[in-house]
Amino acid sequence: STTILGDTGLIYVMCFVCVCMQAIQGNDITVKSYKVESRITSRFAHTTVKSSVVNSGHNAQSIGFNVEIPKRAFINNFTMNVNGITFTGSVKEKSVARNLYAQARARGKAAGIVRYSMETFRTEVHVPPGSKVEFELHYQEMMQRKLGVYQHTVHLQPGRLVPLLQVDVYIFEPKGIKFVTASNTLGEQFSDLTKITHTKEKAHIVFKPTLQQQCKCENCTESAVDGVFTVKYDVERESNAGELQVSEGHFVQFFAPSDLSPLSKNIVFVIDVSGSMWGLKMKQTVEAMQAILDDLSMDDYFSIIDFNHNVRCWNEDLVQASSIQVNEAKKYIQSIKPNGGTNINEALLRAVQMLLRASNQGLIDPRSVSMIILVSDGDPTVGEIKLSTIQKNVKRVMREEFSLYSLGIGFDVDFDFLERIAMDNRGIAQRIYANHDAADQLKTFYSQVSSPLLRTIAIHFPENAVNNVTQNRFDKFFHGSELIVAGKLQPSDLTTLQSLTTASANMDLNIQTEADIHGLDSVLSTHQHSFTGFARQMWAYITVNQLLAERSLAPTANKKRRITQRIMALAVEHQFVTPFTAMLVEGHDQGGAERLIADSPRDSKHGCCSMQQLLYAKPQWIQPTYAPTQEATGTLESTIITSVDNDPHFIIHFPKSNMDICFNIDSKPGHILNLISDPGTGVTINGQLVGSKKMKNNKIDTYFGTISIYSKTHGVQVIVGTNRIDLMEGRNNHSFSWGATAELVLDRVTIVKEEHVTVTIDGKISVMVLLHRVWKKHPVQVDFLGVYMSSDNKYSTRVHGLIGQFAQEPELKVYGVHEGADPKKKEATMVVKGNKVAVTRGWQKDYRRDKKRGSDVYCWFIHNNGKGFIDGSYTSYILPQLDSFLTAI
Ligand SMILES: *[C@@H]1O[C@H](CO)[C@@H](O)[C@H](O)[C@H]1NC(C)=O
Ligand SMILES: *[C@@H]1O[C@H](CO)[C@@H](O)[C@H](O)[C@H]1NC(C)=O
Ligand SMILES: *[C@@H]1O[C@H](CO)[C@@H](O)[C@H](O)[C@H]1NC(C)=O
Ligand SMILES: *[C@@H]1O[C@H](CO)[C@@H](O)[C@H](O)[C@H]1NC(C)=O
Repeated sequence: STTILGDTGLIYVMCFVCVCMQAIQGNDITVKSYKVESRITSRFAHTTVKSSVVNSGHNAQSIGFNVEIPKRAFINNFTMNVNGITFTGSVKEKSVARNLYAQARARGKAAGIVRYSMETFRTEVHVPPGSKVEFELHYQEMMQRKLGVYQHTVHLQPGRLVPLLQVDVYIFEPKGIKFVTASNTLGEQFSDLTKITHTKEKAHIVFKPTLQQQCKCENCTESAVDGVFTVKYDVERESNAGELQVSEGHFVQFFAPSDLSPLSKNIVFVIDVSGSMWGLKMKQTVEAMQAILDDLSMDDYFSIIDFNHNVRCWNEDLVQASSIQVNEAKKYIQSIKPNGGTNINEALLRAVQMLLRASNQGLIDPRSVSMIILVSDGDPTVGEIKLSTIQKNVKRVMREEFSLYSLGIGFDVDFDFLERIAMDNRGIAQRIYANHDAADQLKTFYSQVSSPLLRTIAIHFPENAVNNVTQNRFDKFFHGSELIVAGKLQPSDLTTLQSLTTASANMDLNIQTEADIHGLDSVLSTHQHSFTGFARQMWAYITVNQLLAERSLAPTANKKRRITQRIMALAVEHQFVTPFTAMLVEGHDQGGAERLIADSPRDSKHGCCSMQQLLYAKPQWIQPTYAPTQEATGTLESTIITSVDNDPHFIIHFPKSNMDICFNIDSKPGHILNLISDPGTGVTINGQLVGSKKMKNNKIDTYFGTISIYSKTHGVQVIVGTNRIDLMEGRNNHSFSWGATAELVLDRVTIVKEEHVTVTIDGKISVMVLLHRVWKKHPVQVDFLGVYMSSDNKYSTRVHGLIGQFAQEPELKVYGVHEGADPKKKEATMVVKGNKVAVTRGWQKDYRRDKKRGSDVYCWFIHNNGKGFIDGSYTSYILPQLDSFLTAI
């Protein structure tokens, strides 16, 4: 095999419909076990994800451990054991963690840092062959009751077959479990594999597919386990609907009454009908509004405001939701044709005026609930466009008894703004993914707020018995949800704690609840799988989240700073990784840990290992897999390949963000595309396309048939075709066939018979061209080539080209990952080079491990010939000659 490639893997990997690279494969990672365990006690979940992995290959390589974290969870511990050396994490203030980390690195110690993110935890460790690595991640979150259920989800993506794959969810609810169900999105073959055992207050859910059950298909080695495992349950409630629990000096009060009749409501729907709503978004909004309007009852009052640069009212005043009015309103909505700009300020002010007028005219029942529901998909462009001013304007006119709910469709909207303005006005915000089920998302959100049961709720505790109580006054209580208040007990010799809940509904309510201060702890201590610290952590969890919300509304920098201090202190005490704290991960066995970092992966000849980085990265951009992200000497970075009858697929690997980006170039046979053009080193690498033998869908598929590597400085050109390899130096012209292995000292060219050619220029730039043969007389296919570039290539700063422009890794951000039209392919928005580009999560085939079937590799796919991702249009990379350099793009 060859040793032309760098030690540390490759920055760029490119493949043009390659088939397989058995010869350069060579890595292997065995996942021995993958276990997820969640302990839920009184709605608070502590989840542990553990995995044991072995580098069973012959080379040092990086092993990754990536876990998707639920949105509202805080990571609170991470440990890793590498060949007997343990690394443990501890949460510190961000700046402290950063300094300690820098110091550790400066002293040559192995250390890592875990930062806050919303969705993905990932880590990577570079280890020698035979190494065993054990990962253990802990995170905590509070289950929020919605529409009558608590939902606990676990993302299961072990990436490959695992001998020991197991999910255990233990639930302990002191008042009893009403029902518990489990489901998953893993596919039909898994539907019967979940076992639930369930007593009055305990439940245990086990999911443990065998190796065989994990297989995607018979006799193959791909795992079908890739999806979400979900447990849903609800708890029993006493007639007074209050539940007070005390544990380890902390208390938690739950309140979720159900047998109340809904209060009537006054709703103004404010709907964005600007041009950007045109199409699917409007269609889905119309569909959702039909159902929402049908759901209104005769006691409700409503109107609709639709706005673009203008603001129109379906009806200037609130009207009773009679069937005639509802039908009129439905017709009105259906007739809307989106166009124009976005004047959110004016629309919201009109909505508030409408409620004020109704209130002043005595139309509004004092026991009813008044709300504005804003649906928008973009930032304001007309009228007042300064977000903070809009927020102030709305807050100024809103009354205490009105609230604002905002729904952001898609990703052009500034969701933080929608959230702030809703929070500022006693409402909540929700993001709606602009896809096929947007209408369902809108309806689900509406159903969460459509049945207000209580108003102005307050939960009181005896003053001298408690302190540090979380928010205990609430504007509304909606059917199916739950109000939670937590706090600390003051030291005393009380044996019981009482609470009093007051609220107004169709009559005024006073509800008393009482709890034994020591009873629960003695029960918990006898239950093996309960989470004993739940009340303490839950109090901290609620407090930190409240402070985060308070901080985002704080008017002055000073106030923000003080809140930040409080968040940091709490997060450190309770070990939560938040936006203001980070986790430092350090080795304990001093000698061993130092050895780990001393042999960095840049120096993998010494065959040891190092911790690369621990990054709890925001936002989500990587699917958890064990695919090695860096490989050792003589191997290639992961390449992504679809089937052999596709157009050239570019796969560009970005090591810093650990992302693979793919795009296709859909050009014509004969065209010469520039891949690398570097006037600084005088190197240009171009590829000429050939077409398949037959048209498909009126189109010829193209592949690279010729690759040219030209060094102007040395006057050397290597032209690799599928039939022969030409080498030109000055007037010398040599031609070689693919039929024999050869080493040429012309700057260093190596040919491996029928496999690949590698060309190294000046020891600085290395390229591998792979030959893909199809069988002779194939009716459609032609032979073609794939190209691989080493990440160690040293280009000048002037390098450009379809691949060369990414030598300096640009900042990549992928956010707003959501379900796409195809449920298997997530969609998201990527920000790169100042452009927002729609990307689709696809998996492409990597044929290196399995020449026939390949294995799935994830990448973010950019549509339209890489538009927005590459500089300019792909046509600017079409060159006249195989040895041309790119002129300015
Ligand atoms: C983190 O986990 C490790 C291993 O289980 C444990 O020793 C350590 O005490 C934990 N740290 C915290 C802060 O809980
Ligand atoms: C799987 O392998 C077994 C034994 O090698 C063979 O009998 C069976 O036909 C194979 N099944 C498929 C679908 O290839
Ligand atoms: C808890 O309350 C006490 C007494 O009011 C106060 O001194 C302390 O700062 C509070 N702690 C937190 C974390 O809010
Ligand atoms: C090199 O030789 C081959 C065949 O012998 C010929 O096709 C090609 O044009 C020659 N190239 C140059 C630059 O002379």
